[in-house]
Amino acid sequence: MKHHDTLAKNPQSRRTVVKVMAVAAAGAMGASAARAAPATRMVRVEDLSLKNILQGWGVPHKNRSVDNTPIIIAGRHFKRGIGTHAQSVFRIALHQQAEKFTAMVGLDATADNHGAVIFEVLADNKVVAQSPLMKGGDAARPITADLRGAHYMTLLVKIGPYGMDFCHADWADPVITLIANATKLPEAAARYEGADMVPQIASGDPPEPEFHGPRVVGATPGHDFLFLVPHTGQAPVTLTADGLPAGLTMTPAGVISGKIAAAGEYKVRLTAKNGLGAASRTLRLVAGEHQLAMTPPMGWNSWNAYGMDNSARRTMGSADAMISSGLAAKGFNYINIDDGWQNGRDAQGEILTTPKFGDMKKLADYVHSKGLRFGLYSSPGKMTCGQHTGSFGHEAQDAKTYARWGVDYLKYDWCSYGNEVPQNPSLQQYMHPYVVMRQALDAVDRDIFFSLCQYGMGHVWTWGGREPVWGNSYRISGDINDSWGSMMNNGFRSDRALFPFAGPGHWNDPDMLVVGFGSFEDGPLHWSKLTPGEQQTHITQWCMLAAPLLLGCNLEHLNKFTIDLMTNTEVLAINQDEIGVQAQCIDSDQTTGIEIWARPLWDGTVAVALYNLGLMPAKANIASWSILDMVLTPSQKVLRGKQPVRDLWQRKSLRERAGLAMKVPAHGAIMLKVGQPRMED
Ligand code: GAL
Repeated sequence: MKHHDTLAKNPQSRRTVVKVMAVAAAGAMGASAARAAPATRMVRVEDLSLKNILQGWGVPHKNRSVDNTPIIIAGRHFKRGIGTHAQSVFRIALHQQAEKFTAMVGLDATADNHGAVIFEVLADNKVVAQSPLMKGGDAARPITADLRGAHYMTLLVKIGPYGMDFCHADWADPVITLIANATKLPEAAARYEGADMVPQIASGDPPEPEFHGPRVVGATPGHDFLFLVPHTGQAPVTLTADGLPAGLTMTPAGVISGKIAAAGEYKVRLTAKNGLGAASRTLRLVAGEHQLAMTPPMGWNSWNAYGMDNSARRTMGSADAMISSGLAAKGFNYINIDDGWQNGRDAQGEILTTPKFGDMKKLADYVHSKGLRFGLYSSPGKMTCGQHTGSFGHEAQDAKTYARWGVDYLKYDWCSYGNEVPQNPSLQQYMHPYVVMRQALDAVDRDIFFSLCQYGMGHVWTWGGREPVWGNSYRISGDINDSWGSMMNNGFRSDRALFPFAGPGHWNDPDMLVVGFGSFEDGPLHWSKLTPGEQQTHITQWCMLAAPLLLGCNLEHLNKFTIDLMTNTEVLAINQDEIGVQAQCIDSDQTTGIEIWARPLWDGTVAVALYNLGLMPAKANIASWSILDMVLTPSQKVLRGKQPVRDLWQRKSLRERAGLAMKVPAHGAIMLKVGQPRMED
């Protein structure tokens, strides 16, 4: 009998003393022994609903490992328990009726001696029991926590120092012992307090003209140039551009194209007018060698939207939707096809496309006709991760093909290149395939953004953006999925020393955005499993990190929340800030989960993000702005005393203040701009 189910179905019994099943400790005693010792009041935790468990990968299993195999820790079998994957959070309401929690914990045999985690039990927000760092292959350890007086218990599995892979964590024989005469049974609680809250964020744009997107764009002289000037305003809006370099023209719709004739830096004065007002902005055009990606790329990638199921039709539909949704008007301009378009080679070694894609040049022309840029995916290996043809041995030929087709972006994914190098490649070996492709790209007369995808191996951030690789972005981690743990792992990783390695032309890439409706690497299309509040945290952090903003969802199926989340001008402006300094964590509180991140901006102000990574609402405090000195660049003025503060998600100015104390919802974020912006030149 599942006693908690009975109780839930029969509210009458809530008022009566619960007759709790007497179970033998750790299942060791027989039934008669259990009857003889009815004093224990034990609730088996695996019997509770597991559907609210948050975990970094896969789904939790009752009495099975996360891989759906029997639970085995270092050779010891357990009949009962919960198989999960770090980072894992299971919150249980105790109603102050529990006495203690006991379990055996460890990494499952399926982790195959890999991985390392820490198991923690929290009573309300306090850690009351903790395992040491447990590695794959370590024997199961007992864990006991005092729960007296607690409203909630949280079973937490934290990722250890080796990252998230193989963190197959088991809670074996997890049991809650109730107090004597308990009146209410434990039950699975919401993932965190306030999980059903939808954050209030500003929506829509004013009818007066406004410019958005980057203030600086780079290109190589003599190469095709294409840039759709992001702007909004009630139609008709008249656009003019003064000071365009020789070789470029702008259409009335704001598409700048042509070839910049000579190297140099050009200041283009853009003006937009409609019946309601006017706006102007200076757009800096930097023409020279390796000047692409002066700000992080913004766009769409098919992988998390459709997996291997993308097609020319879907790609065209995505380009159309990029315009009609208003995303392009905010600066989203890459339409990138991920894995699955390649289809072997012809007798001359030319890469072929699958019938679903057909004529790639035609598709690129279609995307370009909208003022958008076109991206493709390949691997330096013989095969891509999805078992399609890679570029191995055909790098120069492929680069020429891409240039002929009109490709503007190449995601170059390590995949089967692992077969071409020894097990522990040297730095040289990690770099080699990317140097080869860089040389191939430099040999063609087209600007192609070079996106390195090799999951952070060989500390790619230390060399990926420099000569001789000149990567424009580099993935710093494994694949993201739409879980809190995965998003945390990629965006809030403990290794925060990465910020010096991002800057104009080369960006750390914590992977694509897991918002909206997509497949997110696990099967059928669904809405992101991140709550709206968690999605706001995700976008805030990707903007603070100056990360590529590549939507991984179905653009033809957007809801209002996703559009509001992705089109907030003031939030996106942080991502696109022209000095390109990645945020750093300037303060964190282990007890509440509050983290404060900051990054300096081109106009002398500082972007400040307040996060609450904990499970309960908590306050973030900044006693004085002097703490922001930590992130200021040498040319920046320090902020002291009362300063203007703007809430970017709300697009609202708050009162001037000398510091702050603000309540941040659990798993939520507040994004601020602090200081008096210098006037635009
Ligand atoms: C992975 C890559 C993903 C996606 C996938 C395609 O290696 O990290 O982003 O491109 O391959 O097979």
